[in-house]
Amino acid sequence: MESIVVKGGRKLSGEVTVGGAKNSALPLIAATLLAESGVSRLENIPDLRDINTIIRLLAGMGAAITRAPGRLEISSAEVTDCQAPYELVKTMRASILVLGPLLARFGKARVSLPGGCAIGARPINLHIKGLEQMGAKIEVEHGYIIGRAGRLKGADISFDLTTVTGTENLMMAAVLAEGTTHLRNAAREPEIIDLAVFLRKMGAQIEGEGSHTIIITGVDKLNGCDYQVMPDRIEAGTFMVAAGISDGDIVIKNAPLAALGGVVSKLQDIGLEIEPLAEFSEDKPLNGIPVRIRRQTSDLQALDVKTMPYPGFPTDMQAQIMTLLTLIKGTSVISETIFENRFMHVFELQRMGADIEVDGRTAIVRGVEKLSGAPVMASDLRASAGLILAGLAAEGETVMSRVYHLDRGYSGFENKLKKLGADIKRITE
Ligand code: EPU
Repeated sequence: MESIVVKGGRKLSGEVTVGGAKNSALPLIAATLLAESGVSRLENIPDLRDINTIIRLLAGMGAAITRAPGRLEISSAEVTDCQAPYELVKTMRASILVLGPLLARFGKARVSLPGGCAIGARPINLHIKGLEQMGAKIEVEHGYIIGRAGRLKGADISFDLTTVTGTENLMMAAVLAEGTTHLRNAAREPEIIDLAVFLRKMGAQIEGEGSHTIIITGVDKLNGCDYQVMPDRIEAGTFMVAAGISDGDIVIKNAPLAALGGVVSKLQDIGLEIEPLAEFSEDKPLNGIPVRIRRQTSDLQALDVKTMPYPGFPTDMQAQIMTLLTLIKGTSVISETIFENRFMHVFELQRMGADIEVDGRTAIVRGVEKLSGAPVMASDLRASAGLILAGLAAEGETVMSRVYHLDRGYSGFENKLKKLGADIKRITE
């Protein structure tokens, strides 16, 4: 069993590079299933457990995959087995991203139904409803979604609520459908834009990504292409908080600043200085630029945070900002509107001395003078990042177990922090 051991109190300094975005790389890899011919060469692929999982999923279907550090070459020409088995789907819900591409290209799919999840129920009813509107017949048998379709048909689909992977699944289904699909109330996350740009390079016709309505006109065939995954905005945001909580001064060499949405303004309101060190354009969310982060004032401000779909404050940064707020004088109120159970880190932060009260989907954080190191347990990916951030600022030693949560979404996190000066290591017991 591995653990991460952090001794708090070091101010971080120096430069760090964030990896490719997990939540872009996963749909991009799934989208390579749409290519009837040619090889897709993906660059800036992060080295993560979730990436290993989706590679295993595609390899099991018959895709030919070559992997080198940061790179993947995928040929899906020979895919024959349209199945996503329970053993893989249970370890990663994003496996559902293969459903749209399989139905679109092969007219059949057998994908394990994802079960419950630590952060909430996370149903996929909107993925299924949209695919049915496009003409697919979907049934659930023995825990599997069985999908069948002739050529999918373009449809006018309006999402009841904003869903990121739901939007991605239906984009991937619509690119090979007959006719035009409108996706209304679509998610606007930068990862959706990354996917649209990739699909266009494969030969798809898409417009409107990044807005509430995405319009897709189906084509007969898509081909593999070369593409570079955008930098990870959540990893970048996590390092920004690391600079703030440690009273450090760091440069993120490739922060996708325009993709960070509500994160930058909240951190600035708290009192961090976030200084672009290169030309920065709001219109280029996929671009990484060097950004310097440090405290602007010693008197950081408590404030309220409400998680929202992009461009609001991301739920994937909620645990990290909560950790920062535990050490800021005054009262902060955090509302989690996306997932119903994403406060598991609270109970571990309390064990480190944080003063947090949870009432349903709201957490009231009263700033304390200090946190004290303790053994803690990660409950999900972003919670694990929050706990390590707490360890950076805490007095004494924090030992975080269940490191596999961290490894799903942060590549070499402790090594990057160590290079910035943190006293941190991974141990195996
Ligand atoms: N929802 C439904 N029905 C659906 C789909 C979603 O009710 O058919 C609900 C969910 O239960 C949730 C809300 O809609 O309450 C939003 O969920 P969404 O579908 O947007 O989440 P997701 O696509 O499953 C992605 C990210 C998550 C991130 C969320 C929200 C990927 C692979 N995952 O999940 O990332 O938290 O969007 O931004 O892109 C993470 O990286 O740690 C992570 C959990």
